[in-house]
Amino acid sequence: MLYPLETKRLVYAQILVCNGCCCGRTEKGHPAVPIDYLKAEFKARKLIRNVQVTISGCLGPCDVPNVVAILTREEGMRWYGFLSEQWQYESLIEWATEVKEAQRALPLPAWLENHRLDPMATQCASAAVA
Ligand code: FES
Repeated sequence: MLYPLETKRLVYAQILVCNGCCCGRTEKGHPAVPIDYLKAEFKARKLIRNVQVTISGCLGPCDVPNVVAILTREEGMRWYGFLSEQWQYESLIEWATEVKEAQRALPLPAWLENHRLDPMATQCASAAVA
């Protein structure tokens, strides 16, 4: 049963950025996750009322760090991994800014398709290659 709860916010997207036991752990050889940059940009651009950013603990697929999941009403939840460059996070900020300006979810940046991840794959990647 769905409860008829409503929020006053108009959120068009939510970005979950993993900063768990592996993602962002440079001591384990993974690229850093620019948490301070993301928080500062979201605050400075006042994005949070339309695009929620959540810095999370482990999202699960640790073997493909750094993991980001993006939720929109239109696309549902999409998962991405191996984000390793600052420009990728800057692109997400630009996309979130455009969503705020448009007041609707927009297509995600095309480069993300090369980072798509299925966290509930029915076959393990090593078995698929064999
Ligand atoms: S630490 Fe990011 S998926 Fe586990």
